[in-house]
Amino acid sequence: MNKPEHIIASVNGQFLPLSEATVHIEDRGFQFADGVYEVIACFAGNFLDIDEHLDRLSRSCQAIELSMPLSRSALKKRIRETYQRNPFEHAMLYIQVTRGAAPRSHQISKDLSPTLIITARQLPNPSQEKISMGATAITLQDFRWKRCDIKSISLLASVMGKQEAARQHVDETFWLDDEGHVLEGCSTNCFAVINGKLVTHPLDHHVLEGITRKLVLRIASEHDQTIEERPWKLSEPDISEIFMTSTTNAAMPVCRVDNQPVGDGVPGPATMRLRQWLLEHFEALRS
Ligand code: PDD
Repeated sequence: MNKPEHIIASVNGQFLPLSEATVHIEDRGFQFADGVYEVIACFAGNFLDIDEHLDRLSRSCQAIELSMPLSRSALKKRIRETYQRNPFEHAMLYIQVTRGAAPRSHQISKDLSPTLIITARQLPNPSQEKISMGATAITLQDFRWKRCDIKSISLLASVMGKQEAARQHVDETFWLDDEGHVLEGCSTNCFAVINGKLVTHPLDHHVLEGITRKLVLRIASEHDQTIEERPWKLSEPDISEIFMTSTTNAAMPVCRVDNQPVGDGVPGPATMRLRQWLLEHFEALRS
């Protein structure tokens, strides 16, 4: 089912097998990475935080002066229809919006109609081994642009960061600012447990406002967990746990960073509790 030949994509409202789903070579998404995107998880047909994702898509569009391609209800309908054609038990839907096709010019012409692509795939399931051993990461000086709050389709820096991680046989690269604060990963937000408190970088232009990050903060506060949204460094004493969050990972323990063990070097209790609460939340969504 997850084979490309079985996937049906939506391209500007037309449903096509993936192999026939194409966009114009002068699409500004291709020419300039002039577009934004979202990734939404779906459990047994129930979308996780779809309004939060569409709010963020709307914010990303607004930030680049791009109109949303459809009304909220029409977009939800389109997303649902795409899912119905690819009804994975656990799915992830990619929604990509670009400014549309036009002869190549940096200048944005007025009469463009945005390109809207929606694809559905099986939501990857991290292996039990990965969860019980914990993921690994390296750090790199952040060389991305200064608007990481926009979920831009321009992901070259993230690709390079992931490539460096792969070269060093680890799972993720965490970006550090000039003072050495941990910002986020290439495709994840990053949390530490420091003196029993849940610490993560505050929302600003250096990080994406992860929907999973927000859910984790909400669930943690419902369980009376103390939260600090502040810059933090790996050199801080008393870091007992680190984990990363994303739509595709939920909360994933990170047990080695730059080849050093984090805390005891095994997934910690705070992370695993949070992960369990998240999984229960997803399970409740199914029923
Ligand atoms: N990535 N930070 C960055 C830079 C990301 O690309 C992502 C998501 C996150 C986590 O956001 P969320 O919890 O809303 O998924 C943080 C997605 C999964 C991707 O690009 O595939």
